[in-house]
Amino acid sequence: MTTSPVEEAAALRAQLLGWAEAYFERDAPLVPDADYDQAMKRLEALEREFPDLATPDSPTQRVGSAPLSEFEAVEHRLPMLSLDNAFSAEDMDDFHRRVTERLGDGGAAYCCEPKLDGVAVSIVYEHGALVLAATRGDGTRGENITANVRTISNVPLTLSGEDVPPYLEVRGEVVIPREAFERMNAQARAADEKVFVNPRNAAAGSLRQLDSRITARRPLAFTAYSVGVVEGDLPGAHDAILQRLSEWGLPVSEHVQTVTGIAACDDYYEALARQRDTLPFDIDGIVFKVNGMAEQEKLGFVSRAPRWAIARKFPAQEVSTQLLGVDFQVGRTGAITPVARLQPVFVGGVTVSNATLHNADEIERLGVQVGDTVVVRRAGDVIPQIVSVVEGSTSDSSTERAKIAFPGQCPDCGSDVAREEGEAVIRCIGGMACGAQLKAVIRHFASRKAMDIEGLGDKLIDQLVDEGLVGSVADIFRLSQPQLATLERMGEKSSDNLLASIEQSRSTTLPKFIYALGIREVGEATARALATHFLELDALLAASTDVLEGVDDVGPIVAHHIRGFASDERNQRVISDLLALGVNWPTVTVASGEGPLAGTTWVVTGKLESMSRGDAEQRLRALGAKTASSVSAKTSTVLAGPGAGSKRKKAEELGISIVDETEWLAMLEEME
Ligand code: IVH
Repeated sequence: MTTSPVEEAAALRAQLLGWAEAYFERDAPLVPDADYDQAMKRLEALEREFPDLATPDSPTQRVGSAPLSEFEAVEHRLPMLSLDNAFSAEDMDDFHRRVTERLGDGGAAYCCEPKLDGVAVSIVYEHGALVLAATRGDGTRGENITANVRTISNVPLTLSGEDVPPYLEVRGEVVIPREAFERMNAQARAADEKVFVNPRNAAAGSLRQLDSRITARRPLAFTAYSVGVVEGDLPGAHDAILQRLSEWGLPVSEHVQTVTGIAACDDYYEALARQRDTLPFDIDGIVFKVNGMAEQEKLGFVSRAPRWAIARKFPAQEVSTQLLGVDFQVGRTGAITPVARLQPVFVGGVTVSNATLHNADEIERLGVQVGDTVVVRRAGDVIPQIVSVVEGSTSDSSTERAKIAFPGQCPDCGSDVAREEGEAVIRCIGGMACGAQLKAVIRHFASRKAMDIEGLGDKLIDQLVDEGLVGSVADIFRLSQPQLATLERMGEKSSDNLLASIEQSRSTTLPKFIYALGIREVGEATARALATHFLELDALLAASTDVLEGVDDVGPIVAHHIRGFASDERNQRVISDLLALGVNWPTVTVASGEGPLAGTTWVVTGKLESMSRGDAEQRLRALGAKTASSVSAKTSTVLAGPGAGSKRKKAEELGISIVDETEWLAMLEEME
């Protein structure tokens, strides 16, 4: 069935209004922003193509919706507008072309700023005193939230410094930093209160509290990004205005940078996109503004957005798609993880067709069923996950909604499954008799940060286990040319290569070996701490839980898992087999506190050429240094490779010495 443009536009309008109402009025978004943007774009395109379709009440004509009745309404003296979006470098070129055509100037200067993902507010200062704060509302009328904004700790109640204009309207974004958000949600969870979906919703909900004492307890932070009505003099460039605001005590982003030309804008975008996941707050893109105020004035506005600015959006980190089914995967420890099979979607910059559902409790919490439309989130390198079900979205008639049933038997080996007291995870009890567990154990053992056996990939591991050639990790070191020759797609050359890399992996380090054992809860960092503490494998395996708990990072649970692992006879056998088959590592002789670098603390950042950061840290520790993950006044030296960002900057600010890889290697050579 085809729909006419009239019907499509009407449907889009109704949908957008409903979504906007839920988003703005109830702080309860129904769909991810990307879906909203996409529907808005489609409606804008339709209205452009068929101008008769545009209605005065179309959501394309509005930025949000009318304020709630409980807050007093505030009329903005200058409307609070929105920004046009760019989604690619091509869109940026178009923007630049439009700007230069109007200005007749090829080398426009742009001020680049992060697009903070929070809530827009306007704050008015009269003779330096905060007198009014308002939300954007529908752009023309917002809500008076003065009492709430006065509670935000980094919003000055009076401005300081020289030449403060008699009337100054500052505009900016209120956000909740990510860490503070996690803490706030953890507290809410502990108190059995409502948790927020993301920092932006938490910020919006906090600002719209009628009781400002509640707002005062929320970790809100303000960043100024422009001015509205100003009576008095201001500099003639946007960046200089921000500088003045900051001199008067207003918080301004530390990432603001003015560049010339569009190529430099692209570079800025790429650089910040790389830092996105490590920034203390969520950003959803970069805003580029023509820097000269005279130029801004000349360019003016179109409908709801300025011609002198554009927001280049990052790939959405949350999008909606349909849940097609659920597979159950058995991990290294027997944990059975439900994995969602999804209608493939582009999210966080890649196409995703699977996402984790964590465990049975999570399925229940989400109330998700097969056939539902779900919101998938993929941020940075974190595995994609399902964060919510889109209400009322139950799929079209072609798919039935179906409950997700957790298997009563291991889907791989058919063994029973069990759930330990107080644990969310359901496990297969088959141990190494379960092919899926054995394969996962071997994958971990061979992985780069463990024994680093190059060429021993997933497919090959599946074959080796299925053919019965490998029944424990020790069997890897018993493999021979004739055995490998029996495998599919295994030529002489590849089997030679594999045997060579197995041979090479025999020489390892103690931390890597401990990590490779795959003891529950013992990750890379804990393995390193254990190696540094015990220096010898036997000492670790013989340690009591009390002794184990004396190691940095090791609590009762980890100690219990290590003890459990060490006292299991099958594990003892595998370890002695591995040693008998020639697996070895250099004895660690220097514990932290001795050695040429004793008493120094290092931070390794950026990408190194000759080794991984982890290996570099280990070399440093072997020389007696301490290593840390963040730069502080206690840091002695930062080893910075290419791509080092905020840590390098911080070191520069603190005047801490920075060495590059070449200098560092030369230093090591002298010391080792
Ligand atoms: S300038 C007339 N700069 O993005 C242009 N906006 O759609 C006014 N935002 O709701 C906006 N960071 O609250 C500007 N550095 C920034 C921003 C920013 C976030 C928000 C703003 C507005 C939306 C624009």
